[in-house]
Amino acid sequence: MGEATVKRAPGRGRFITFEGGEGSGKSTQIKTLSARLNGTKLRNIVTREPGGSPGAEIMRHLLLSGMGKLLGPDAETLLFAAARDDHVRTVIQPALAQGTWVLCDRFSDSTRAYQGRGGQVAPGVLNAMQRVTIGDLKPDLTIILDVPVEVGLKRAAARRGKGAPDRFEAEDLKFHEDLREAYRQIAAEDPQRCVLIDASADPDTVASLVWTTVRDRLLTIAVSAPPPSAPAASATPTSATPTPATQ
Ligand code: TYD
Repeated sequence: MGEATVKRAPGRGRFITFEGGEGSGKSTQIKTLSARLNGTKLRNIVTREPGGSPGAEIMRHLLLSGMGKLLGPDAETLLFAAARDDHVRTVIQPALAQGTWVLCDRFSDSTRAYQGRGGQVAPGVLNAMQRVTIGDLKPDLTIILDVPVEVGLKRAAARRGKGAPDRFEAEDLKFHEDLREAYRQIAAEDPQRCVLIDASADPDTVASLVWTTVRDRLLTIAVSAPPPSAPAASATPTSATPTPATQ
């Protein structure tokens, strides 16, 4: 691959989130992407939600135990928001400020999809929580891994083996179908930020699609500035040409 440069202000790290339903393969893909970025010498961290910071990991335990279900949808959303607030303040923002790329396994779209699906939690509540927890921090790129519900649930069951399903894995088929639809809608509403990737293929094929997306959206080959003697007409902004696919 050519010399990689970042398309936007060079000082700040880039923020990439991975989203999708159960068994969509986020964890595998995020690890592969991290290794590839390491290969281009881009410093990066992998983190996750709920959790990712000591305080939020304590809340993760409560959230996955099903306590949120007892409290009801609004209160459960507040718990996810509280965990996110700690994670953003103590891990994500400081890393981005230091120029480190942050790869996050789930973020605010999970709240929109899981808690907001089918109007369970009013959009006004979701928006208010988002303002408090993340303000104007927006992922530079969100990769949504899309997989048919039966395939995803089978993968999730194989992964946990004899262990019991968590609070969300245990929901019925309709829940997971609604969830998939909610993610598709998020992708359609914000195509600048989101890319929907068919994750039913094998992990290597999906990893190639992920890498191509990251490369095309956030990395570009260095272009030299036009020579000082260039005619005034060439003052049109020079567009960087993406590098060809590097597998
Ligand atoms: P996890 O074990 O991390 O599962 P996965 O591999 O599917 O990411 O469990 C996290 C669960 O929490 C997952 O079922 C989605 C759910 N969740 C929400 O409902 N709302 C949220 O805001 C977040 C971040 C996660």
